[in-house]
Amino acid sequence: MSIDPAREASLDVLRAVRVDDAYANLALPIILRNRGLSGRDAAFTTELAYGALRWQGLYDAILAQCVSRDWEDVDPMTKDILRLGVHQLLGMRVPTHAAVDSTCNLAKGAGSPGGAKARAGFVNAVLRKVTERNLDQWIEYLGVDGDSEQQLAIRWSHPAWIVRALAQALGEKRSELGDLLEADNVPAKPSLVARPGRISLDEMLAIPGVEAGRWSPLAGTLVEGIPESLEEIRTGSVGVQDEGSQLVTLALSRAPITSHTNRWLDMCAGPGGKAAVLDGLAQQVGARLVAVEQHPHRAKLVSNTLGLETTAEVLTGDSAQHEWSGEFDRVLVDVPCTGLGALRRRPESRWRRKISDVSGLAPAQRSLLNAAVKAVAPGGVVAYVTCSPHFAETELVVQDICKAHPELTILDAPALLPEVTDASRGKFVQLWPHRHGTDAMFLALLQRSAE
Ligand SMILES: C[S@@+](CC[C@H](N)C(=O)[O-])C[C@H]1O[C@@H](n2cnc3c(N)ncnc32)[C@H](O)[C@@H]1O
Repeated sequence: MSIDPAREASLDVLRAVRVDDAYANLALPIILRNRGLSGRDAAFTTELAYGALRWQGLYDAILAQCVSRDWEDVDPMTKDILRLGVHQLLGMRVPTHAAVDSTCNLAKGAGSPGGAKARAGFVNAVLRKVTERNLDQWIEYLGVDGDSEQQLAIRWSHPAWIVRALAQALGEKRSELGDLLEADNVPAKPSLVARPGRISLDEMLAIPGVEAGRWSPLAGTLVEGIPESLEEIRTGSVGVQDEGSQLVTLALSRAPITSHTNRWLDMCAGPGGKAAVLDGLAQQVGARLVAVEQHPHRAKLVSNTLGLETTAEVLTGDSAQHEWSGEFDRVLVDVPCTGLGALRRRPESRWRRKISDVSGLAPAQRSLLNAAVKAVAPGGVVAYVTCSPHFAETELVVQDICKAHPELTILDAPALLPEVTDASRGKFVQLWPHRHGTDAMFLALLQRSAE
């Protein structure tokens, strides 16, 4: 019996996520390194592990039809092994015998030797049943080829509460729900930013393997290779940053203001992606950035991202508790959120997030936006940003704060991004993975009256 190291490594990733609560994107490189996997083996491991995690909802629905007992009673490790088998069969087009045999070998080698033979027999029997239909036939068999939220949740492998929240956020564009859920299952190509003041867009686009981005005037897409191999990434003139993050930062820099403090503030700066863009833009107009981050290790990341040429000041502390006194022209408050707009980046996050996280984050989101209103100068502008389109984390927070602060005016944020089409949610910017190829970033721009 030989166990394929790439498949073993994929099982390690699933175990790390399940047992150690690891982030797959952080666990994977360590596991690959420890097992000495690179090139095609590493790519196979990544696709297998990430695919099994993303598609867990649909695969579990299929597997539940193929076991003679209740699927919930199957032990967690055997479930992981079966999900890896199903992804090879239905998601990766690995030939049937190779997928079944290698998954049975994985089952024989996993866990205590006592139960190994029985586990392998069980895995073999279940996967044989899976092979009786292809993916389309399974979808039809399960009755999930329709448009109801329940059907879409299984078809596109999302928890039902997330599907409901995304449907609400789409509003009158509800018919795009299937496209959005589908886009969450497509891994994003690394998006790059030419950090203002450090490298021009033309210089970045001259790097082999980098093509122009779709919307942002600072963006490129890495179509070949990995970001870490680029000298410009190592020196920090280029960063890895979703175009949505670039656009919301640019919109803040373009908002009309009547204050003149020449000080800008990033209240939730770690790890510093938006701060690095703001820093360059601020220097171009003679302003200076203050970047605050609560956690010391993340504040260090902000300093590293800003580099040595920066004029910005990095502070470690709680932005919500600080006594601000209206001293900033432009304030970015990129609050901690559920990240429901970035599900395509973290294959396991949809299963880890709970509906209670939304209410759990609400007080921090409100107190941070309240603090931002105190920090902005009369005539200055606050950008409230989330990488979640959830109504309760976006519009509701902004509405509540605006009710309590009549001195605020909601600016027409989409008008400040003329290069982007179809991004308005009323006066707010809402980007979408299926429509824009970005994370589902939300932006509200609030101006404090000059009086
Ligand atoms: C969504 S992330 C910000 C991402 C960042 N703007 C970027 O583009 O790289 C939120 C950050 O805010 C920090 N944070 C949360 N609450 C905070 C607070 N009260 N004061 C300062 N930082 C806070 C978190 O530690 C986290 O690093």
